[in-house]
Amino acid sequence: MKADIKLHMDKAFDFVSADAVKGYADETARLNHVLHTGTGKGSDFLGWLNLPAEIDEAHLADIEATAKVLRDNCEVVVVVGIGGSYLGAKAVIDALSNSFDWLQTKRQSPVIVYAGQNIGEDYLYELQELLKTKKFGIISISKSGTTTEPALAFRLLKTQLEAQQGIEAAKKLIVGITDKSRGALRTLATQEGYKTFVITDDVGGRFSVLSPVGLLPIAVAGFNIRELVAGALRMQILCADDKPFAENLAAQYAAVRNELYKSGKKIEILVNFNPKLHYVSEWWKQLYGESEGKEHKGIFPASVDFTTDLHSMGQWIQDGERTIFETVISVQEMNHEVRVPQNQANLDGLNFLAGKRVDEVNKMAELGTMLAHVDGGVPNLKIELPKLNEYYLGELLYFFEKACGISGYLLGVNPFDQPGVEAYKANMFALLEKPGYEEATKAIKARLH
Ligand code: PA5
Repeated sequence: MKADIKLHMDKAFDFVSADAVKGYADETARLNHVLHTGTGKGSDFLGWLNLPAEIDEAHLADIEATAKVLRDNCEVVVVVGIGGSYLGAKAVIDALSNSFDWLQTKRQSPVIVYAGQNIGEDYLYELQELLKTKKFGIISISKSGTTTEPALAFRLLKTQLEAQQGIEAAKKLIVGITDKSRGALRTLATQEGYKTFVITDDVGGRFSVLSPVGLLPIAVAGFNIRELVAGALRMQILCADDKPFAENLAAQYAAVRNELYKSGKKIEILVNFNPKLHYVSEWWKQLYGESEGKEHKGIFPASVDFTTDLHSMGQWIQDGERTIFETVISVQEMNHEVRVPQNQANLDGLNFLAGKRVDEVNKMAELGTMLAHVDGGVPNLKIELPKLNEYYLGELLYFFEKACGISGYLLGVNPFDQPGVEAYKANMFALLEKPGYEEATKAIKARLH
């Protein structure tokens, strides 16, 4: 039996009482039940709850076979998507990839790059330049099939791929992941005969990493999606409806962060001491930010990479306004070993470290930072991952998703919608004079003069 991820809350109990957190036991159990019975807000979007258990052999095999086509035929695969349509895949791929993946010459997997997650003209120009000399494929992901950023990037890249490969060959190198029947991407994919996967109506973008949205790019990158799903399934069982508070990590995390929020800690900083986890934090920020930031409520999710950011944000965290708490993702065992060499001259004074693992230095930085920040008035939660691999990432992703659902309900909001995201789009379309926006265009232009 593998170990599981762990949650440590003791360094938060100097700030909020353990009893107060335990006091959430009944309410979190009730809200977990509300999730499982689909009787709460946003209950049309609960398909993610059972994704790990429901994904069957045929579906996994189809994803792996599609990944193989792209792996066999592409040097580069562009994942086109924004928000929940790319962050989960990037989080897992970055966490598992060699840090210098770009520079590897003898590759076994295509390089995965991303587009449609911004509207940067230089970014798109440079991507197109890079792809001119590469055999590339595209995974175009958009649940709605109408989001401007990925639609724009896909139009550019599809045009380029067709010009480079010919229209028929290009079709075999494009995979669409979108809604079953609605949206422009579905229409286009059907018309062109692309291989497609469905994002079901009941799975929202930011809860879709364990669907083909995340699994296909992760499989193309060469990682074991069955292990990822197995880890997620383990966490699905550990946080199930029948699990008591004392055993349910998701309920505990939801409880402690809400108690901290009530005590005035308005900002949660997700901390890692492993640069490979940078995009896990980006994924987490979207998950919690878009799920909880509503009705003028919600913890602001922020993130830092330590020890790098101790030299930029460390001062603020130690001494700034006391409205923050930290949640540290701590990876217990490294995948590689590097030891500090002995040096006779010892001009750098580092011989006291000679023979030690670099990770021992990092772990002492982690411990020292935690103690300093707690002394400075920053409550600390710690999530321990035994190792950085597919299985534990699967556990972590599902843990955060489940806790997010419970936490959003504790806050009293609908964690599964994102009405606020529409405001910028309406203004952008009005400013770009999109057909149908004539009145809004007049109104916005009047505001600008
Ligand atoms: O979580 C969400 O629902 C959003 O972040 C979406 O994933 C994002 O807006 C992209 O939407 P779509 O997949 O429809 O293009």
